[in-house]
Amino acid sequence: MIVIGLLAGIVTGGVAYFIPWLPDQASTQAEEIDGVYWFVAIICAVVFSLVAGVSIYAGWKFRAPADDMDDGSPIHGHTGLEIWWTAVPTVLVVAMSVWSAVALARAETLPDDPDEYTTIEVTAAQFAWSFTYPELERTDGELVLRVNEPVELILTANDVIHAFWVPEFRMKQDAVPGIETRTVITPTKEGSYDVICTELCGPGHPVMRAGVRVLSDADYEAWVAEGEQGAGEGGEGEADGESVFAEAGCGSCHTLADAGSEAEIGPDLDSVVPGQEEQQILTSIVDPNAEISEGYQPNVMPGDYEDRLSEAELDALVAYLVEVAGARR
Ligand code: CUA
Repeated sequence: MIVIGLLAGIVTGGVAYFIPWLPDQASTQAEEIDGVYWFVAIICAVVFSLVAGVSIYAGWKFRAPADDMDDGSPIHGHTGLEIWWTAVPTVLVVAMSVWSAVALARAETLPDDPDEYTTIEVTAAQFAWSFTYPELERTDGELVLRVNEPVELILTANDVIHAFWVPEFRMKQDAVPGIETRTVITPTKEGSYDVICTELCGPGHPVMRAGVRVLSDADYEAWVAEGEQGAGEGGEGEADGESVFAEAGCGSCHTLADAGSEAEIGPDLDSVVPGQEEQQILTSIVDPNAEISEGYQPNVMPGDYEDRLSEAELDALVAYLVEVAGARR
């Protein structure tokens, strides 16, 4: 009976293992974490099959005949069984904890040499992500990583608790106001992914996403160069609307052809901006709930851009929007 239960568990676990339930593995951490996941899942499948199998078998084997109205005979203790059902779960639970702890420690280990990894500061706010690249002196609404280079993410939040998660990377970490948390990711596959907020943080929670791009060495260098060029164009003390648009993360929610963004969380700027007065555009940025475009929810767009951006930056942003979207009526 126990053998049948064990076999059933191994078959269930084995079948489950070969069905592709999980997202792509796009980081070294993903391999580490999936290892733990399957170790625990298969133990659970075996234990469940065993318990269910024994229960069903016992229910059938020891059922009372229709005319039997007696009480069952009293049973007191069974030392052998008690030792087994204490020892086996103890070994399994300890094995799962040890494996998990080792996997997490390995996943979060950085190379000793600081030149071999980068650090990116991640700021979460209702309901947008922003990424600061201290080495590049750059802030962007998009997370851009170099393939096979470990990255240390230092996370914090401006308002409430959020959580950073890219399913393909597996690592998940809270972003908490007032403190810094950290996590490590070593992306192994070039491509585009999504950062998903996994902590219920308000009405915009389900749409709190940001793009992630994992680039080859050459593409990454090109991206860095493009940023340096962009920073140079603006000149000293002069705000450049296009960079403000990118740095404030506008493109993670809004479509704007000129900026190459195609997000659909907020209104499509190519269609709403034409026909609006400059003042109306400014109001939509600093007081987003003043007027909500049809089909969109209030309280989704962060309401603190007046604090986050300087007056010059706001003016530049409005001028940029008028310039690139205003022309096409
Ligand atoms: Cu931020 Cu959910």
